[in-house]
Amino acid sequence: MDKILVTGGLGFIGSHTVVELQNEGYEVVIIDDLSNSSISVLDGITSISGKKPLFEKLDLKEKAGVENFFAKHNDIKGVIHFAASKAVGESVKEPLLYYENNISTLVYILKELKKLRAASFIFSSSCTVYGQADELPITENAPVKQAESPYGNTKQIGEEIISDTCKVTPNLKAIALRYFNPVGAHESVNIGELPIGVPQNLVPFITQTAIGLREQLSVFGDDYPTPDGTCIRDYIHVVDLAKAHVVALGRLLKNKNKSNYETFNLGTGKGSSVLEVVKSFEKVSGEKLNYKIVGRREGDIISAYADTTKANDELGWKTKLSLDDAMRSAWNWEQKVRRNK
Ligand SMILES: NC(=O)c1ccc[n+]([C@@H]2O[C@H](COP(=O)([O-])OP(=O)(O)OC[C@H]3O[C@@H](n4cnc5c(N)ncnc54)[C@H](O)[C@@H]3O)[C@@H](O)[C@H]2O)c1
Repeated sequence: MDKILVTGGLGFIGSHTVVELQNEGYEVVIIDDLSNSSISVLDGITSISGKKPLFEKLDLKEKAGVENFFAKHNDIKGVIHFAASKAVGESVKEPLLYYENNISTLVYILKELKKLRAASFIFSSSCTVYGQADELPITENAPVKQAESPYGNTKQIGEEIISDTCKVTPNLKAIALRYFNPVGAHESVNIGELPIGVPQNLVPFITQTAIGLREQLSVFGDDYPTPDGTCIRDYIHVVDLAKAHVVALGRLLKNKNKSNYETFNLGTGKGSSVLEVVKSFEKVSGEKLNYKIVGRREGDIISAYADTTKANDELGWKTKLSLDDAMRSAWNWEQKVRRNK
C-alpha cells in the first residue's frame, strides 16, 4: 500500500487523519517537531489502529533535514501537510514567525515533490480565506478576501504557491482543503485536541471551563444580526474531517481529479451559534456552563458556514457526526486528560 507522509501528524487534525489513513491500509510516516504536540500522541494513535506509524522528529524549517528525509523515503506517494503554526492572535504579534513556519516549510516540501515522478499533495487551508463572505453558505467560488491576520495570509499565500507550482509541474497534483471549525475527539478518547496554554477556540474553552480549569467562558457579543445575537460557525467533527483527507488523497492517487490543483470546503453545511454550542455541551454533559455575555471582540466574523455541494458531489464525502457527537467526545476527552494529569 502507498506510503504517505503526514506532516504535523501528532497534532489535533493530523493524529485523527493518521488513524483513518491506517484504517484504509496506507503506510504512514509522520514528521512533527513537537512544537505544539506531545510524543504520547504516537501511543494514542497506535492504540486505536493497532499499527505504530513511522515517526521522525524534524523541524520542517530545516531545509537540509527535509531534503535528507525525502532522499531516505523516495517511495513517498503522497503528502498531507498539516504542520503549521495556527494561533491567529500570536500571528499578529509575531508575523515573521508565522511567515517563516507556514511558508518556508511548504516551499521546501514542494521542492522535494517536484523531484518525484508523481506526487499527490493535500494542504490544510481554512475558511478564513473567505473572511466575511458576501453570500452564505460559502461556496469555493466565493472571492478570497483581504486576510485579517498574518496567519490567514499564510493560508492564502500557501494556496497561491501551490496553484502556481501545479501550473508548471505536471507530475504534481494538489488539493487545498478549506476547513471550517474542527471540533471533537476520537470516540476512543485516545486522541483529541491538546491546546497548550489558554485555548484559542470555543470548544476546548468550554470543556476547560466546565472542568474547572478556566473560571468562565466569555461570549463575545449577543447583538449580532443572527437569530440569538451570537456569532455563527460551521463546527465539523474532527473524525469526519480526517476521513475527508483520505478521500481527497484517494482522488489524487487514482487520478480522479479534474485539474491538478483543486479546492474543497470541508464543513457540515450547517451554522451553529455560540449559544447553540453551549446548549449542546450542557445537554450532552449534564453540566451547567459558567458563561457571561461580554462586548464584541474586534475582527470577529458574524457568520460563516460552508456550501458542501462540491465536496459532497465530487469527493463523494459527507459528514456523518453531529454537533452533539462532537461535544460529547470533546467532553469525554477533557475528562480523560484531566484525570491523567
Ligand atoms: N484547528 C483548526 O481550527 C484549523 C482550522 C483551519 C485550518 N487549520 C490548519 O490545519 C492544520 C493542522 O491544525 P491542527 O489544529 O491540527 O494544529 P496542531 O497545532 O494541533 O498541529 C500542527 C502540528 O504541526 C507541528 N508543527 C508545527 N510546525 C512544525 C514544523 N516547523 N516542523 C514540524 N512540525 C511542525 C506541531 O507540533 C503540531 O503537532 C494547520 O495547518 C492549521 O493551520 C486548523
